[in-house]
Order: sequence, then structure tokens, then C-alpha cells
Amino acid sequence: MSEQSGPNLQEIFAASNGQHQDLWKALWDDGSYIPWDRGGSSPSLIDLLKDYPSLVQPPSPDTTLKALVPGCGRGYDVLLFASHGFNAYGLELSSSGVAEAQKNAEKTYPNHRGKYTFITGDFFTKDLENSMGGEEAKFDIVYDYTFLCALDPSQGLRPKWAARMAELVKPGGRLICLEFPLYKSFDLPGPPWPLRSEIYAELLEGVGFVREMHVTPKRYLEAGEGSDMISVWKRG
Ligand SMILES: C[S@@+](CC[C@H](N)C(=O)[O-])C[C@H]1O[C@@H](n2cnc3c(N)ncnc32)[C@H](O)[C@@H]1O
Repeated sequence: MSEQSGPNLQEIFAASNGQHQDLWKALWDDGSYIPWDRGGSSPSLIDLLKDYPSLVQPPSPDTTLKALVPGCGRGYDVLLFASHGFNAYGLELSSSGVAEAQKNAEKTYPNHRGKYTFITGDFFTKDLENSMGGEEAKFDIVYDYTFLCALDPSQGLRPKWAARMAELVKPGGRLICLEFPLYKSFDLPGPPWPLRSEIYAELLEGVGFVREMHVTPKRYLEAGEGSDMISVWKRG
């Protein structure tokens, strides 16, 4: 994570008059302060995919599963899903972020078991559908880490996040949430905006997801202060 001497992320967002999408893009375009980037996938996700092989197992050898990571930043998690054989997509609002992800992939992705694709677009519009070259925008797995908490709850985006997840996850497919930040007090500013497991449940059960798993990760990033949980949601 980069440090800077000027205002921190919360102060920058507080001063932005609610124009958060422009701000994410400006931060990526400037490129000198990307404090959320942790240089790799969370060990919590790495362990989950290893410990629960059924999550990454295609139903038959000639099937390729499809994964999506919205707000993918430099795309580490997209590459992780690709390394498990998925046809993996990263969606990122910022074209500079996508360029970074592409650069990172070319540098670090050694084994081309699955394919990766990075798409510039807004999660809340049909940008994804319009950029998939005729492939259906329906996924076996969607992964959320530091995306829901990057959306200001006062802008009413959480129910829209849940409704969009229900559109993007195939019937029978799964949404994996690395729940963060569960430790953070509600009176503190975001991003990340505070979350709780109950908030995920209310949002996702409301759009037809059923929680299949709710576990404490064996390993986790310090940022979660030991409070992170993983939930796996199945779409009926
Ligand atoms: C807190 S960062 C997390 C990035 C990445 N998941 C990681 O862990 O490094 C949130 C990301 O979501 C992107 N983002 C914000 N709003 C978005 C939207 N509506 N559609 C797609 N991406 C968005 C931002 O540009 C930013 O890269």
C-alpha cells in the first residue's frame, strides 16, 4: 500500500461532492496514491479455492467455468481464477486501472490454464454485456472483495449492487464475498464503508441468494483486523 503525505482516501472522498466515479478514475489516472492495492490476492481467497475444490471444479472436463471480479483493480483475483482454469473476467471503471491490470497480467501470469479478460466499464450499466463479444454475461462465480465497501451507502448503491449480482450470477452459480470491513465503526468515513455480515445477508437474501457457507478465513490480510469472514452465496 502506498503512503502519501497529503489527504488520505477518506478525506479525498469527503471533499468530492459525491462524484465518486470521477474520483476513482482520477486516482487511477494519477497513479501515485492507490492505497487499496495489496499487491496480490488475499490469502483468504487463495485458501478457500484450495480447501473447497468443488467451488472450482467444472461439472465435466469439457466445460470451462466463468468468473467475474467487479472493481478488479490490478486484477490479481482475476488471474487467480484463471489459474484455476476459469475463463476469468475483471471489470474496472477506470481504463488506467485496466491498463495496470493488463500490465500486471503480462508480467506475472505464468500459466495460461484459463483465459483472462479485463473490461473497462461501470458495474451498474450494461457495459459488461456490451463488451463480452457475444459471450453471455452470466457467471459461475462472482467474487467481491473491497468492491461493495467501495460504494457509498448514502448513495443508495447497496441494493443496486445486490440486484446486479443477481443478474450476473447464473442460476445455480455462486457469489463469494470476502466480507470487509466488519471491524469498522459506522461513524467512520469511507471508503471502505463499514459492513457487517448481517448487511450482506439482508441484501443478498432479498434478491434470492442462499448462504451456503460462512467461515472465518484461516489466513487473512491485516487490513481486516482479524474480523474478515467469507460468505458463499448460491443463486437459486
Ligand atoms: C477499493 S478498490 C478495490 C480494487 C481491487 N478489488 C483490489 O482489491 O485491489 C475499488 C475499485 O472499484 C472500482 N470501481 C468503483 N466503482 C465501480 C463501478 N461502478 N464499476 C466498476 N468498478 C468500479 C474502482 O475504480 C477501484 O479500482
